[in-house]
Amino acid sequence: MKHAPATTQRSQIPTHAAILPSMDILKGKTAIVTGAASGIGRASAMLFAAEGAAVLALDRAVEVQATAAAIRSAGGQAIAVVADSSAEQDVADAVATVLQEFGGLDVCFANAGISGGLVPFFEETAERWREVLNINLIGTFLLAKHAAMHMVTRKRGSIICTASVAGLRSGAGGIPYSASKAGVISMVQTLANQLTGTGVRINAVCPGLIESGMTQPIFERARERGTENKIGQLNPLQRYGVPQEIAQAALFLASDAASYVNGQAIAVDGGLSSSHPIVIGRR
Ligand SMILES: NC(=O)c1ccc[n+]([C@@H]2O[C@H](COP(=O)([O-])OP(=O)(O)OC[C@H]3O[C@@H](n4cnc5c(N)ncnc54)[C@H](O)[C@@H]3O)[C@@H](O)[C@H]2O)c1
Repeated sequence: MKHAPATTQRSQIPTHAAILPSMDILKGKTAIVTGAASGIGRASAMLFAAEGAAVLALDRAVEVQATAAAIRSAGGQAIAVVADSSAEQDVADAVATVLQEFGGLDVCFANAGISGGLVPFFEETAERWREVLNINLIGTFLLAKHAAMHMVTRKRGSIICTASVAGLRSGAGGIPYSASKAGVISMVQTLANQLTGTGVRINAVCPGLIESGMTQPIFERARERGTENKIGQLNPLQRYGVPQEIAQAALFLASDAASYVNGQAIAVDGGLSSSHPIVIGRR
């Protein structure tokens, strides 16, 4: 079988990744989305709202207000909260706000994260480990905990956590980042079992390379060098992804269509994590 040459063109990204007609998949539901000022979180908050959910969009960046404003101007329901997703009081307050403003909590997307950079082994520091684990893993735990404390009383709810292909195997992130994302996957498995009998589901989504705020430097460097068409060539789809493609997976996990999906880590990565490294044409 002949393989097409590796090129990533924006035109290869299906338009339905960005635009699908609303089917009211989350009609009547309420959701919290963290990291909602940018990238995957922003796209998910917008998609959840377009599918009928009332959304609390949380981010430490004030730009989260623009996400909520965009939802409202499109006719949706949203409030913005500027807060630190790794601070327990901020998280507890956000859950209390969504209960007070929207009367319940059905969906929680713990998505905020930082990369920590690609620091070589011997230059890595304990401070950076603490910062990355604090936001990516402990912050995710805190939102899952405070959301679940409410959800178990109603015997339903869906918690989604953003992990990464970096949590599945090496080569996609720095040392603390990759460990934090493996931790998210492990935590999701453990919490699914801790929540036995409650009716609350918890899953992780593992994005591959997505163009977002976090990966902007990669894209900018490639565009400067004229090598943008090489980005993402390592996966079988031979392209990078866009935030809406992760938002669609989160929407599925949030929805009743995923009613029997629990304790899983679902890769959305163009097939990147499906293979051992190979050199195409040399098999
Ligand atoms: N972009 C990728 O290729 C990729 C791949 C795998 C996983 N991810 C994960 O996806 C998630 C979303 O990242 P993104 O790619 O959309 O990047 P992004 O930088 O565009 O968005 C991340 C958002 O999280 C917010 N945030 C960070 N720390 C926070 C804190 N303590 N409190 C509140 N908000 C905070 C940031 O302000 C930002 O708005 C992250 O968990 C990231 O690790 C991204």
